[in-house]
Amino acid sequence: MKISTPEEMFKLGQELAKKYKILLLFGDLGAGKTLLTKWFANGLWIDENIVQSPTYAYINSYGWKLLHVDMYRIENENDVREKWINDQISNHEYIAIEWPKFIDVLDINHYAKITIQKDWESRIVDIEW
Ligand SMILES: Nc1ncnc2c1ncn2[C@@H]1O[C@H](COP(=O)(O)OP(=O)(O)OP(=O)(O)O)[C@@H](O)[C@H]1O
Ligand SMILES: [Mg+2]
Repeated sequence: MKISTPEEMFKLGQELAKKYKILLLFGDLGAGKTLLTKWFANGLWIDENIVQSPTYAYINSYGWKLLHVDMYRIENENDVREKWINDQISNHEYIAIEWPKFIDVLDINHYAKITIQKDWESRIVDIEW
């Protein structure tokens, strides 16, 4: 599907919150993974303003409801263990993972794969379930 504005991402985030518990977010730098996570959170009645990119923290937890992970700087499976990612996953109902990696060692099974591709100011979003 084609998303022309950040506002249209809002609608998509709301829809995703109704349908899925776990999102794997693929896409280049600046594609809109964090923005979509904000609107996903909003759809879960979490204030989107507390949703911040966990690029440096690796993991942000929002009221134990939504876990927000950024695996950009995770380099190997041992990093996954050292950052206690699976322990955090098991403690949350909803999960959004930017730059998903080492999916086989993550304690997740049913998830939606969201791919966001930049097309100037628009975005092409593909959802695989
Ligand atoms: N149609 C659009 N949909 C989504 N974002 C858009 C759109 N047009 C412009 N943008 C802008 O693109 C940026 C997306 O940034 P965001 O931090 O969400 O990317 P990201 O995929 O999380 O990047 P990173 O890999 O660095 O974490 C925002 O500044 C947003 O306003
Ligand atoms: Mg991001």
